[in-house]
Amino acid sequence: SVHFEAVATQVETLALKLAKQAGALIREKSGKALQVDTKEVRYDLVTEVDKACERLLKCEVRNVFPEHDWVGEETATELELKKLVTNSLSAPWTWIVDPIDGTLSFVDGVPLSVVSIGIAYRNSMEIGVIYNPYHDELFHARRGQGAFLNGNPIKVLLPETELEDTTVTFGIPSKPDKRVAMLKDVTKVALHCRSLKALGSAALHMSYVAAGRFGCFFENDLKPWDYAAGWLIIEEAGGRVTDLEGKPQTLLGGPILASNGGIIHDRMVELLNLD
Ligand code: IPD
Ligand code: CA
Ligand code: CA
Ligand code: CA
Repeated sequence: SVHFEAVATQVETLALKLAKQAGALIREKSGKALQVDTKEVRYDLVTEVDKACERLLKCEVRNVFPEHDWVGEETATELELKKLVTNSLSAPWTWIVDPIDGTLSFVDGVPLSVVSIGIAYRNSMEIGVIYNPYHDELFHARRGQGAFLNGNPIKVLLPETELEDTTVTFGIPSKPDKRVAMLKDVTKVALHCRSLKALGSAALHMSYVAAGRFGCFFENDLKPWDYAAGWLIIEEAGGRVTDLEGKPQTLLGGPILASNGGIIHDRMVELLNLD
């Protein structure tokens, strides 16, 4: 309806502005975080800046849209996550936010981290924003209106593009069993693509797939905030996002395969599911 579109535009405008604000903080503090803590496993880090970014984003959203729900990596409770997947958040609008995607790069001072903001309306992704503050690249999409990089329309690679002519990107999970399984999966596709890259940020990979730079991205254990924004941006750029068996994606988290949606997608599913 006209009313819905008007609200969506306000939400989108705020998300774009906030992504740049948080991005500026990331760029400024890169490699300079004073406080670094570990989460469940030693290789899973969180810094004061991850938390500060989320606080900044959440406060601003609360000011403008106090009735909106919030699921962010550094504040989410198990209950909030569960509500997200069972579609029972109390508000129709939900912000699904990763304040810094690529924390390990951020800690190392490697300029490969982004801000990821996905916004759902009753479990349908409606707005996606990913900002790379190091290259000043702002990717965004609104359902039904296409995907953009700094305001210019972007498209995934042509559907007839073959896996052999593209780069496959993948994530490296921190949990030991998931990491080992991931590297086995990488081996299955390794000789069927031009090359492979792991840049340490699911959202960065996904925005590059949307822009037609990479053929696909996959990982076996993601959380909703890692891919919520990238999911919509890729779909609006003409691509496809599923699980590793080619089944439809949800906001549940778990395995993800994101691509231009053509031959590459089917070939990846085929290769990953060979024993
Ligand atoms: C991580 C990154 C990484 C992926 C991990 C994620 P974080 O997110 O996206 O590329 O392999 O699974 O947890 O912790 O840097 O926000
Ligand atoms: Ca993290
Ligand atoms: Ca993340
Ligand atoms: Ca994060």
